[in-house]
Amino acid sequence: MSKDKNSKKPTDEDRNKKSMDDDRNKGQVHGDRKDEQLEYYRRRNTGPGKKMTDDNGVKVSNDRWTLRAGKRGPALFQDFHFYKKQSHFDRERIPEKVVHARGFGVYGDFELYKSMRNYTVAKFLHEPGKKTPLFCRFSNFIGNKGSKDTAVDIRGFAVKFYTEEGNYDMLSLQFPVFILADGMKFMDVTHAAKPEPKTHVPQATTAHDSFWDYVANNQESAHMVMWLMSMRGRPRSWRMMAGWPINTFRFINEHGQSTFVRFKWVPKLGVHSLLLDEANIIGGVDPDFHRRDIIEAVLKGAYPEYELGVQLIEEGDQYNYDFDILDDTKLWPEEVVPVETIGKLTLNRLVDNFFAEEEQSVFDPANLVPGIDFTNDPVLQSRAFPYRDTELHRHHSANFENLPVNKPIVEKNYNLRRSYLRHRIDVDSVHYHNNSLAGNTPEEASFEEGGFVSYPDEVEGHITRERPSESFYDYFSQSRLFWNSLSTVEKQDLVDTFIYHLQYVKSKSVRQQNVDMWVNVDKEMACTIADNIGVDRPKGSHVPVSKSSPAISQANTPHYAFTQKVAVLIGDGFNGREVTSVLDLLQQNGVFIDIVSEKLGTVTGSDGATLEVDETFTTKYPVLYDSFYIVGGHSHNQEKFNQDILEWVSKGYKHYKPIGVASTGQNYIRSSDKNNLAGVVFAGNNPDFGNNFVAAIAQQRFWNRT
Ligand code: HEM
Repeated sequence: MSKDKNSKKPTDEDRNKKSMDDDRNKGQVHGDRKDEQLEYYRRRNTGPGKKMTDDNGVKVSNDRWTLRAGKRGPALFQDFHFYKKQSHFDRERIPEKVVHARGFGVYGDFELYKSMRNYTVAKFLHEPGKKTPLFCRFSNFIGNKGSKDTAVDIRGFAVKFYTEEGNYDMLSLQFPVFILADGMKFMDVTHAAKPEPKTHVPQATTAHDSFWDYVANNQESAHMVMWLMSMRGRPRSWRMMAGWPINTFRFINEHGQSTFVRFKWVPKLGVHSLLLDEANIIGGVDPDFHRRDIIEAVLKGAYPEYELGVQLIEEGDQYNYDFDILDDTKLWPEEVVPVETIGKLTLNRLVDNFFAEEEQSVFDPANLVPGIDFTNDPVLQSRAFPYRDTELHRHHSANFENLPVNKPIVEKNYNLRRSYLRHRIDVDSVHYHNNSLAGNTPEEASFEEGGFVSYPDEVEGHITRERPSESFYDYFSQSRLFWNSLSTVEKQDLVDTFIYHLQYVKSKSVRQQNVDMWVNVDKEMACTIADNIGVDRPKGSHVPVSKSSPAISQANTPHYAFTQKVAVLIGDGFNGREVTSVLDLLQQNGVFIDIVSEKLGTVTGSDGATLEVDETFTTKYPVLYDSFYIVGGHSHNQEKFNQDILEWVSKGYKHYKPIGVASTGQNYIRSSDKNNLAGVVFAGNNPDFGNNFVAAIAQQRFWNRT
C-alpha cells in the first residue's frame, strides 16, 4: 500500500504515546510545545505483553546464556545477539563536557511580566503573560562528571528558551563577574583549576597550588575569586542560587536601535548558602545533594522559581561610568544601574532519561534570536565559537542540534546536510543557495520578516592585542566594593574560606604572593590570612575605595520556612497529639519533613499514634537538614539512641540551625553559662510553639548563637 510521506507520523509513534504517562513526574504543562515535541521521541520498553527484541526489532529467545558449541564448550562467534549486546554497552559513554561536566537539567517555562518591546524585537519578550518552554541545566565548572555537587566551585545555570523564533541560550554563572577579561586565558585558568596533570589530584576543588598560583599571577581574577570564596560559592540549593550571564549583550528594537543589557536571575526563595564545613561533609555523605534537593522539590510540586532582571544602558551613555561596561571582571552596581524585573522562570518537570536529555544537551551563547546580539565584550567575543566546537568533538557529529532536547520547536529549513547519524530525511533535490530550480528557496528573511540581522556597530582603530581601556587594569576597586558590602558574618566566613583554601597550598611562595595580592582588597583581611598560613604579613594597604553596594550582600535576602528540610528525631513513646499537631503545622507551611529514627518501620506514641520512619541515623547525617525537631523517646538500645540524638543536636547547634524541642525532648539540650540557646524553641509551657518553630525555621541560621 502506498503512503503519502507527508501525511502523518508513523503509527507506532502513536501507539507508544498511549502508555507513556503513569510513572512520569510531573507538573505536565499543557500546551507546552517542547513537551509535545519530546512526546514524539519517548519510548516505553516495559509493560504487559512486551516481548524483548534486539536493536533490529527481532524477538530474542534467550537473553541469559551465550551460544556455545556443546554445553561446556567454547562460545560461538555467530552469537550476534551477544555481540550486539556487548558492543553497544562498550559504547555507552560519550566524552564529558570539557568544563561544567557535572550537571543536572530540569524543564520549565518562562513567563513574561513586562514587555521589552521598546528595546528588543525578540518576540518572547513582547507580550506580558506569554510563556516560553525551556530547559535549564545546573552544573559545576571544575569537577568531573562523577564529582560532588557541593564543591566550592563556579556554577553554571544554563537556560535554553525554545522560542517561536528558534532557540535562545542564556548561560549564567552564580556570580556577576568573570575570572578573566579576555578569552585568551580561558584555557589557562581551566588548566590551573582542574586537577594537577601528573596525578589528576585533587578533584573538584580550587584548594591546591596551581589555582592559587594562577590567581596571584593573573590578578584580574581577584574580583571573581572574592565571590568564589564567599558564601555565594557554596549554595544551599540550586533553588536558592542567583545567576548572571555576566556578559554585556545588546537588545535591538524594531527601529534598529541598540541598548546594552546585562541580565540577572533572582531565586524567589532568596539566596542561601551551606557552611564550608557542611559543604565538605555533604560532598562525602551525599555527593548528589543538590540534584536530590531539586528532584524532591519538583516531585512535591514546590517548583523552583527565579525572576529575570535586566540592567539597561543606552548606547550614548556607555562611557559615563567608572568601569568599562564591556569588562566582565566588573559588575554594574545595582544602585548605579537599577535592575528591572521582567519575568519569571519556573522549573516544573524532570527529565525522563538523564543521558538522552541532560547528557546530550548543548548550550551555546551564539544561539541568539533576533533582537538580542553580541557586543564587543571581549569575553563574549571569545565565546562565539568554543561551545559549538567542543560539542562537535563530544558528539562526533554536526547533527547534535537535532537531538530531541536540543531541537528547536520551530521548523528548520536549511541547506546543511549529512554528518554522522543524520536522522532527518531531507527530500529536496536542491540544497544550495542561490538556486533557480527551487525558486531560490529556502529564501533569506529580512529583519522585518524576522531574520537575524547583526547590529551594524561601528568599528575603528588598528589591529591590536591591547586592552580595550585603562580601567580593565583596575583589578581591586570592585573587589574592595564587594568586601565593603558584606556583613560581619559574611566577612568572617570569607576569611575562613580563604584560609582553608590557602592552607592546602604547599608552595610558601604562592601563599606569600597571595597575601601580597589580597592586601589590595583589605589589609586586615590579608593580615589575618597571612597569620594563619605561615607567611609574612603583607606590606602596603588596600585601594582607597569606601563605597559599598547593599545588593551584593546576601544578608538581606528573603527567608522562608517553605521547603526547608526538617529532621524529626524520634523514638517510641512520643506524645502523639503534640507531635502530630506540630507536623501538621510544618506541612501547612510547606516545610519538608523526614522522620528519622534508629531503624526503618514505624514509631509508636504513648497514645498509640504511629509514624512511618523515612530515614535512620545510619543513612542520614545532620548536615543534610536545615533544622531539627527533637522529640526523643524509647528505643531497644537507649544509650545509642540518646547518643545519636545528642550528636545530631550538637552538630546542628554548631551550624547555627533552628532546633525545636518537644516536651519529651528537653533532656537532649540544656541551657548553661556557655550557650545562649539562640534559635532553640522549646515546646514546654509554650502554647505558640508551632508558630515560633516555623518562624525559627524561616530564619534558617542563628549567627548570634554561643
Ligand atoms: C572566554 C570565556 C569562556 C569560554 C571560552 C567558555 C567555554 C566553555 C566551554 C567550552 C564550555 C563547555 C560546553 C560544552 O561542553 O557543552 C562551557 C560551558 C559553560 N559555560 Fe563557558 N566559557 C567562557 C565563559 C563563560 C561565561 C562568562 C559564562 C557565563 C556567565 C559561562 C557559562 C557557561 C556555562 C553555564 C556552561 C555549561 C553549559 C552546560 O550546562 O552545558 N562561560 N564554557
